[in-house]
Amino acid sequence: MAEEIFRSPKKRGRIMVMISGRGSNFMKIHDAILDGRINADIALVFSNKEDAAGLQIAKKRGLETLYINPKLYAEKEEYDKEIIHEARKRNVDLICLAGYMKVLTPMFCNEFKNRIINIHPALMPSFPGLHVQQKAIDWGVRFSGATVHFVSAEVDMGPIILQAVVPVMQDDTEETLAARILVEEHKIYPESVRLFFEGKLEVRGRCVFIL
Ligand code: GRF
Repeated sequence: MAEEIFRSPKKRGRIMVMISGRGSNFMKIHDAILDGRINADIALVFSNKEDAAGLQIAKKRGLETLYINPKLYAEKEEYDKEIIHEARKRNVDLICLAGYMKVLTPMFCNEFKNRIINIHPALMPSFPGLHVQQKAIDWGVRFSGATVHFVSAEVDMGPIILQAVVPVMQDDTEETLAARILVEEHKIYPESVRLFFEGKLEVRGRCVFIL
């Protein structure tokens, strides 16, 4: 069977950012849009948490925000269908998960195949899941880092777009390592989104080629 190839579109895109908390990666993406590095607009900042600090920041920045309470939905798929509906209404081209703490259903991932990206605070495929900075310390690895990747139904396993490496120090705590990694996240996430809307990302199988 011929290999399926996806090429990201070269256009002024529309982004939905999905957050659950602080929203520092969302802010860095928005900053890069404001200073002209990313050719896109943020159509919606979505959260599954009403008190997500990032929602307040988005409102202050004049962006549309939406919170939907997941507890109102008996099935995860119903909740995700609602979010998909909101994204479709706004003609979203790319969904940026930025500290969104709910796992997307396979239905959601397939609906937006090659159109959802995520930032993970470890060097994939090492340390999927949560508390990965602590896991890196406990494992005794010398280096960790951040990964921006396309989202597939398999959690934290989709095609890798960009990675950045940081050293792990012997006296690191989860907090100090997380802070060192976050500095790199703030560079590679906006850069990945920039490449996406420059039409420069080509996904072939599980690999991303930067054109
Ligand atoms: C980041 O460390 C990101 O890698 C992880 O969640 C955190 C979100 O931070 N997925 P913020 O909300 O972007 O500040």
